Amino acid sequence: MSEDKDLSYGEAIQEASNSIIRFPVIPVKGVPLMNLIANNFDAVSAFCPDSSDLLIATYPKAGTTWTQEIVDLLLHNGDAEACRRAPTPIRSPFLEICSPPPIPSGLDLLKKQAPPRIIKTHLPFQLVPTGFWEKKCKAIYIARNAKDNMVSYYYFDQMNLTQPEPGPWEGYIHKFMRGELSWGSWYDHVKGYWEEREKKNILYLFYEDMKENPKREVERIMRYLDLSLSDDVIRKIVELTTFKSMKENPMANYTFIPKIVFDQSISNFMRKGEVGDWKNHFTPEQSAEFDEDYEKKMKHANIPFRTEL
Ligand code: A3P
Repeated sequence: MSEDKDLSYGEAIQEASNSIIRFPVIPVKGVPLMNLIANNFDAVSAFCPDSSDLLIATYPKAGTTWTQEIVDLLLHNGDAEACRRAPTPIRSPFLEICSPPPIPSGLDLLKKQAPPRIIKTHLPFQLVPTGFWEKKCKAIYIARNAKDNMVSYYYFDQMNLTQPEPGPWEGYIHKFMRGELSWGSWYDHVKGYWEEREKKNILYLFYEDMKENPKREVERIMRYLDLSLSDDVIRKIVELTTFKSMKENPMANYTFIPKIVFDQSISNFMRKGEVGDWKNHFTPEQSAEFDEDYEKKMKHANIPFRTEL
């Protein structure tokens, strides 16, 4: 896996500071995406991966960064130093992201790297460039239960000053239920990949399973990647990817993104890392309304989500 050691990512953001705003979203085939992404979407769709590239796909805030770190460590035999060579979005570029210049886009970063690459996306299945499936790339999807996912997104939308204003919690729940947040409907997202997982050989993981038994899930990813690492290395990877370790890791905790974009005084990127935090946010009435709507939308999906451990 080759790449430039790009220490100027934060500097590029600083340079673009006058152009940083809470960007509005524009629908792409019905999916609301940040306007800069929407306006560049033809280039994203045309992206042609190498068959050795790996896709990590998630709805925002489902455990993307955690999985990116696990995969990078697996591919580097648990070598912590090697995985501190650069911040997460340099080591594992964000396919569709497009920011004001001189901040490099996801496609710019990918062009500079030789395959095999670890490519992150939040695109729903139907918007993923078809090249990934034509080339039979491996793909890992991580899903997180809707309520915790939404709570995490609510805090993220406060601290990420390029995302639309989240507004008050009560209204945010309804925006989530209507699929109006950036990257669209959580319900369609988790179902889209679930329905395709067998045909496309997608490894479908759950955040809750990773919390419950990280070793088991790290081993699952290892096998999917056709790797065979010793028990000691696996244990080390589990240790290096605990919430605490990653919160302290400057190459994984997003402190490398300047405050004009990620204002971690509002909320940390590594915020809580728990299953069941939704109980601290939903009133009983909100929870009942959410559950009733959830039943309708997820009735036939049969995806084994857990909202507590
Ligand atoms: P919380 O806001 O609930 O704390 P993403 O990387 O997709 O943006 O997801 C971010 C969420 O994953 C945040 O959730 C973050 O704290 C959590 N997270 C990141 N690393 C983690 C880890 N090693 N263990 C558990 N949760 C982690």
